[in-house]
Amino acid sequence: MVRHFLRDDDLTPAEQTEVLALAAEVKRDPFAHRPLEGPHGVGVIFDKNSTRTRFSFEVGIAQLGGHAVIVDGKSSQMGRDETLEDTGRVLSRFVRAIVWRTFGQERLEAMASTATVPVVNALSTEFHPCQVLADLQTIIEHKGTAAGLSMTYLGDGANNMAHSLLLGGVTAGMNVTVSSPEQFRPAPWVLDAVAARAAQTGATARVEGDPHAAVAGADIVVTDTWTSMGDEGDGLDRVAPFRPYQVNDALLAGAADDVMVMHCLPAHRGEEITADVIDGPRSVVFDEAQNRLHAQKALLIWLLEHS
Ligand code: CP
Ligand code: NVA
Repeated sequence: MVRHFLRDDDLTPAEQTEVLALAAEVKRDPFAHRPLEGPHGVGVIFDKNSTRTRFSFEVGIAQLGGHAVIVDGKSSQMGRDETLEDTGRVLSRFVRAIVWRTFGQERLEAMASTATVPVVNALSTEFHPCQVLADLQTIIEHKGTAAGLSMTYLGDGANNMAHSLLLGGVTAGMNVTVSSPEQFRPAPWVLDAVAARAAQTGATARVEGDPHAAVAGADIVVTDTWTSMGDEGDGLDRVAPFRPYQVNDALLAGAADDVMVMHCLPAHRGEEITADVIDGPRSVVFDEAQNRLHAQKALLIWLLEHS
């Protein structure tokens, strides 16, 4: 059966551990695995802007021996009226995997419903699971382990990063807190999936309105943009309600002494995070960006092996 990676809980906790171990191995020895030798093709489609995802997948696929076909979704027939189901069938005849950055999660599900090769979510409105694999790799590198650590995310609790940090974090056994204004809380259906996964791993998940209470004793503090791609015209005030959730020195004073600060990037200095913090010694944001390459190579190797 073909394996897709559309959301963080598409990998079981044991499978996520395998992928993260492979990511560390791939980082040590980047050219040891060549599952796409030929080269075989991988389709990489973007319906939204990207820097890290675009570069890391293209380089990673080349390092696995393959060829990335990078397409702007709007310029393909998907941008007209060809169905996602037909696109999944057609692309499966050409490529070994389909990597796609798009809007609603239901679009990825429609593509995966007919694709006979793995479909990978390279960011949707609801989830950003490749990013969280890289984040977990970074946490393990710096802290030795992820399980048992407490991670607090501040900002837009309803966006893809909040959802994936919750779901991927509890899969890894982390105790995850999301702190956001009332009107930007995680989706209830995501919290249900998080609770189901947390029950398997013994992790905890919590939504906490007070940012100071949320960061108290946190090992890891994470934030993300207050306005995600696609949210620009939603008519909501995406500045004033978020100001108390800015990651700055005053807020971090309540976290663990060795707190580590993360951000998937791109960052907006002076908005969700201060320049002092993101450019300071507690920040690992560029290790996090680099690990996109290794974590995604490991994911592709694993999915190809298991499909
Ligand atoms: N973090 C991330 O996905 O970056 P890009 O939008 O640049 O791909
Ligand atoms: N939440 C952000 C992440 C960007 C990598 C967005 O969706 O725009």
